[in-house]
Amino acid sequence: EHGERSRLIEAHKAAAEFYASLLSEAEAAPGRQFLSERGFERVDAEHFGVGYAPAEWDRLARHLLARGFSANELIKGGLAREGRRGPVDRFRGRLVWPIRDITSEVIGFGARKLLDSDDGPKYLNTPDSPIYKKSSVLYGIDLAKREISKRSQAVVVEGYTDVMACHLAGVPTAVATCGTSFGEEHIKVLRRLLLDQAEFRGEVVFTFDGDSAGQKAALRAFADEQKFVTQTFVAVQPDGLDPCDLRVKQGDGAVRDLIASREPLFAFAIRSVISRYELTSNEGRLAALDAAAPLVAGIKDEALRDRYAVDLDRWLGFLDEQLVRRRVHEVSGRSS
Ligand code: GTP
Ligand code: MN
Ligand code: MN
Ligand code: MN
Ligand code: MN
Repeated sequence: EHGERSRLIEAHKAAAEFYASLLSEAEAAPGRQFLSERGFERVDAEHFGVGYAPAEWDRLARHLLARGFSANELIKGGLAREGRRGPVDRFRGRLVWPIRDITSEVIGFGARKLLDSDDGPKYLNTPDSPIYKKSSVLYGIDLAKREISKRSQAVVVEGYTDVMACHLAGVPTAVATCGTSFGEEHIKVLRRLLLDQAEFRGEVVFTFDGDSAGQKAALRAFADEQKFVTQTFVAVQPDGLDPCDLRVKQGDGAVRDLIASREPLFAFAIRSVISRYELTSNEGRLAALDAAAPLVAGIKDEALRDRYAVDLDRWLGFLDEQLVRRRVHEVSGRSS
């Protein structure tokens, strides 16, 4: 109900302030070192509200209880768990990023461990709560929403540090899912920002590692119902460097270039398949054609399918355009 919601939001606001104020304390040195190794300065941490969750059992809980929040409220919001002697902080000895909803209210946290000796997972997130639904949460949406609408482009990256790096590098449309894969609910959030006179315009750009997991994800999306596929683009991270690593190693320009190098999902998926073959022999090129033809044949839009048949021929080193079209046509006949 309304009262509960606003109480949990107040508790998160107080928690974010508490964590942020601790980042400059001596105990947060490993957190500051992590940020500096990732190329972030003090003002960047402040801009994104990054904070430090102390290592003890219940520093946040005691702080919030003293401010009139109840143990039940802390537990309901996911800030603490039930312990034998009272609530126990969920995030301890970690760097924390406040996760804000589209209206800029803090609704949860993402927290990274700082010591290898910490046996927990690398990242911990707020669990689903009355104010936090991981299936629709996008980190950075509050900062990116206006630019997403203005530029008709949303960039989806993997992590908190990648969102920071993109925004600082001049890609202010970046958002990230929080410990979950990108899904239907995330699409809905972005679609609302990309609507132009009730039409969905603009593009959603995914950055991928370029490893097989990224390619599999793209191929899966390809096989989906193709509703938004022509608005979906892929930017392959060079040498598997995510936007944060890329900015540290090669600077802001490299992050902008990564996004500028995006290609349509269809092109990415077809080229991924082709890249597994040796195109220096006729045998290899024909084998690549056999592997790629079903993908092209699967494109539902006829004009687009035809364009990709032409591209496929080019990507195969100008094999034979008529042969490529014929093969695509044969495969589509077989599958329908
Ligand atoms: P950093 O060293 O932090 O940059 O790690 P990374 O770039 O290797 O992170 P990775 O690409 O593996 O993860 C990016 C995002 O995935 C994170 O920001 C988290 O949201 C999520 N993630 C990664 N590891 C975990 C995990 O152990 N648990 C959960 N819940 N989420 C994770
Ligand atoms: Mn990783
Ligand atoms: Mn990864
Ligand atoms: Mn990273
Ligand atoms: Mn990464």
